[in-house]
Amino acid sequence: MAVVSRASSVGSLAGFGAGAADLAAPSAPFPLHSGLRQLPLLSVAPVRRPQVPRLLCPQSSAAPVSDTLAAEAAHELARDEAQSASGSRQAEEVIAKEKALFVGTYARAPVVFARGYGSTLVDLAGREYLDMAAGIAVNALGHSDPAWLAAVTTQAGLLTHVSNLYHSVPQVQLAETLVRHSFADRVFLANSGTEANEAAIKFARKYARGVAKEEGPKRWLRLTELEPATHFVSFSNSFHGRTMGALALTSKKHYRTPFEPVMPGVDFVKYGDLAAAGAAIRKGHTAAVFVEPVQGEGGVNTATAEFLRGLRKLCDDANALLVFDEIQCGLGRTGRLFAHEAYGVEPDMMTLAKPLAGGLPIGAVLLKQKVADAMKPGDHGSTFAGGPLVCAAALAVLERILEPGFLQNVAAKGERLRAALRSRLGDNPHVKEVRGAGLLVGVQLDVAAGPLVSACLDAGLLVITAGAGDVVRLAPPLVITNEELDRAVDILVKCFPVLD
Ligand SMILES: Cc1ncc(COP(=O)(O)O)c(C=O)c1O
Repeated sequence: MAVVSRASSVGSLAGFGAGAADLAAPSAPFPLHSGLRQLPLLSVAPVRRPQVPRLLCPQSSAAPVSDTLAAEAAHELARDEAQSASGSRQAEEVIAKEKALFVGTYARAPVVFARGYGSTLVDLAGREYLDMAAGIAVNALGHSDPAWLAAVTTQAGLLTHVSNLYHSVPQVQLAETLVRHSFADRVFLANSGTEANEAAIKFARKYARGVAKEEGPKRWLRLTELEPATHFVSFSNSFHGRTMGALALTSKKHYRTPFEPVMPGVDFVKYGDLAAAGAAIRKGHTAAVFVEPVQGEGGVNTATAEFLRGLRKLCDDANALLVFDEIQCGLGRTGRLFAHEAYGVEPDMMTLAKPLAGGLPIGAVLLKQKVADAMKPGDHGSTFAGGPLVCAAALAVLERILEPGFLQNVAAKGERLRAALRSRLGDNPHVKEVRGAGLLVGVQLDVAAGPLVSACLDAGLLVITAGAGDVVRLAPPLVITNEELDRAVDILVKCFPVLD
């Protein structure tokens, strides 16, 4: 019970209503990761408001009302400045060490985050950032959500890992919840998006094997009786992950080429081109079609209903499986629990990951009974997948997303965000389109978005790129407030001149 009371006291501190000053705890020890133990012991710098005003607005000139207050204010300012300077030095050291220690696979922004609450992140120097990236569409409940924190700390105090040699309660509760609220009959849990797609690839291959054996060639299929379909269809601008199978389904050539040969047998078709998809599927060797109802990495592109319904029919006719990758667009992001609900089409399998456990690593495949029937004990597995800790976190996320009104709220906030962007940026010559669904929004530019993303970071706003690097992607926590959305638009608009 001590854990629960600790979590709730953190909750009251970190609640969304708490002022920034309440959250500053200069003397509180910062929970250092052991990997940083050689750095000087760190205290958290006091919160400093975003510096967009520093860049773009006149400095405040409010004067203290008395000499005593003036002295106190000067003292506080000096202390804050000192702590912030030490935080900045610490950040420089962390960034230098990261460069020296890690494989250079990431081009990280030059910022070191120390903590977060709601839709706000705070760096080592105590500077606040409005988070419109949510860890790439992961932190659905924002940072340090009190209910999520209570679920995680309570579960960590009870049971964290047992492996899939044994049963645990949160795992079954999570599967029950996912099945109850989806098209699926069965669940497989994994640790990430790419792993969920790897599992779906294997399930599709095994299913196709059974189909070939039991049914033989169907209609216009050119399969010989015992030759299972092993190929896949994927689409332009798709992103399905970085492991060899999921990578093979990912459209960007420069992600794949250095690592070839990846999994063979993937036909890439233009996203939205039903005729081309039909031609690929009718070749007769397609085990499954992988498609994102809304593409995130690919540039925030939404499928049409005609396209997804057409794919459904093509797959049915060919006895191929239709797989929706909702790793980025699923679980409330579009204002529906699952993005495909807006299209009136159901897949045979769906992969989920990013927001499912609110920031802890998880992946899931939801599938129809007929596909699950193809899998037997030993066919697939994972040591960590579906551990009690991560499942308890996922249950807390789902509980919130499924609260009455939550999804409608996401949809309304998405509309508001797009409307504000269109009205404030519609005339900007660099803006070609504002698009998206719910709180997954893309601003298509006529130039690279990098300089704008950097200017926003300097101004205390986190946004990310998508597509060919010419789309600004906004994927905030689903719990972001209207006031925060308005503030984000303000900062973004004010940073646009950097593109001129
Ligand atoms: C649609 C989609 N599928 C798969 C992945 C891969 O997920 P992960 O990075 O967790 O492996 C991503 C990640 O961005 C994604 O957006």
